[in-house]
Amino acid sequence: MVRTAIYPGSFDPATNGHFDIIKRSAKIFDHLIVAVGANPVKKYFFSLEERVAMLNEMVSDYPNIEVSHFDGLLVEYAARMNAVTIIRGLRAVSDFEYELELALMNRHLKRDVDTIFMMTDERYSFIRSSLVREVASLGGDISDKVPAVVERYLKKKFGSNSRTGPHRPPS
Ligand code: COA
Repeated sequence: MVRTAIYPGSFDPATNGHFDIIKRSAKIFDHLIVAVGANPVKKYFFSLEERVAMLNEMVSDYPNIEVSHFDGLLVEYAARMNAVTIIRGLRAVSDFEYELELALMNRHLKRDVDTIFMMTDERYSFIRSSLVREVASLGGDISDKVPAVVERYLKKKFGSNSRTGPHRPPS
């Protein structure tokens, strides 16, 4: 039996922290679906197509990883994909309450879809997508915080060289 897991998120954009969780999860499960979803309270900076394209480029060397996207409830999508679990990363205690609520709500909605938490590598525990966007928009170096493809997309948005490019805040 193929054991499929889903790693959902906004990935706006994906960071090295996300990529670390992706690579480690792909070692545990036969098939990993990195699923770009919509958090209704967020206004996205990158389009869905851009987020999917960046992730596809990141995982192109990993045959058991698929990038996808979904609308609606995550648990419904997980059931449709025959996923045995949802994976979420935990960076610090501050993530815990939000993640606990999501996991419990998801379990309440569909009893047989469980969530597994993976601790984010400590090198990435301070990284979040919105901070990366802010640093890039102000010309800071993000090369060790995001995969090369994401750095390229951010540079395209904020200027050819985000260190010296136009200082535009994220929308
Ligand atoms: N490394 C670095 N950063 C990480 C990280 C890691 N390992 N794990 C999370 N983060 C950061 C992200 O960068 C992001 O930062 P930001 O807030 O600055 O953008 C933040 O943590 C959380 O983002 P993410 O993990 O992408 O989750 P999300 O909360 O934006 O999206 C969905 C969660 C899409 C999975 C959720 O909204 C969902 O399931 N939506 C579908 C609708 C649904 O089913 N709703 C009911 C849910 S109970």
